Amino acid sequence: MADSKVIAMDMPQVRRPEFGLENNFSKYYADGNPFLSHLVNSLHVVFPEGEKLFIRAVKFFQDQVQDPHLKARIKGFIGQETVHMMQHERIWDTLESQGIKVREFDEWYTKSAYEEGIEGAIRKIFGEETYKRLALAVTCGLEHYTATLAEVALDPDLNVLKGFDDRMIALLEWHAAEEIEHKAVAFDVMQAVDGSPITKTAGLLLATWTLIYYGAAGTVKFMMEDEQVKITDLPRIVAEKTPLLAKAVFFMVPKVLQYLMPGFHPNDTENSRLAVEYFQNNKQYFEKKAG
Ligand SMILES: [Fe+2]
Ligand SMILES: [Fe+2]
Repeated sequence: MADSKVIAMDMPQVRRPEFGLENNFSKYYADGNPFLSHLVNSLHVVFPEGEKLFIRAVKFFQDQVQDPHLKARIKGFIGQETVHMMQHERIWDTLESQGIKVREFDEWYTKSAYEEGIEGAIRKIFGEETYKRLALAVTCGLEHYTATLAEVALDPDLNVLKGFDDRMIALLEWHAAEEIEHKAVAFDVMQAVDGSPITKTAGLLLATWTLIYYGAAGTVKFMMEDEQVKITDLPRIVAEKTPLLAKAVFFMVPKVLQYLMPGFHPNDTENSRLAVEYFQNNKQYFEKKAG
């Protein structure tokens, strides 16, 4: 059933783009707004550790997948997430040089969410098998979020990246397009090994909580530690971007809830057009790389 829906964006391609982002973007690259810049900075940290989890989770079940086509898509998925991770981490030195303590946040976040934190506790309490199934379900939930966020980033009507540094737009749009390109891979693995709606729902709930909690924690930390942001300016800085964030949230909520519908498949969400258009219009980032 799912196969008939797998159309244009069937096979994730591993690309190694060059955005020239190191050491040359301003501290408030998000339309000059510290709040929005720090929110995206938080995602620059939250994403790479999340992507390590996605790779772990899919690898747990890789050997149980029989379909050679799905096996090839898993390889593409792992390749793409590895490059995403590296591209986000590449700008950490610049962020540190701007006084943003991304590594300190990463250390806390890793301990709290993974290792001996939530992931470790789930492993201890529920045992190895349930832990692995939950890790995959959380991955699928977060992949649904990243594909939905990708739609937000690429939709010209929403225009959420308006006023961002051009190179930062290039990084975020490329990541977004590849999230749409591989949005169904982890889900198809989950369907192949565990079709339980309970695991799927638990995965989305945990994904929702962790994304909001850690995304917010990084934003608050970076804002509070930013000496250039005066407390008295805070209401204005936040209010300036509240309508944009509200628009994005209203756009996302029904799409996220769709995930809970019985029989839902990621390819039911028609956002592939945005990714196809992105790759057609941005070949300059991918064509001249020699590997
Ligand atoms: Fe990613
Ligand atoms: Fe992804």
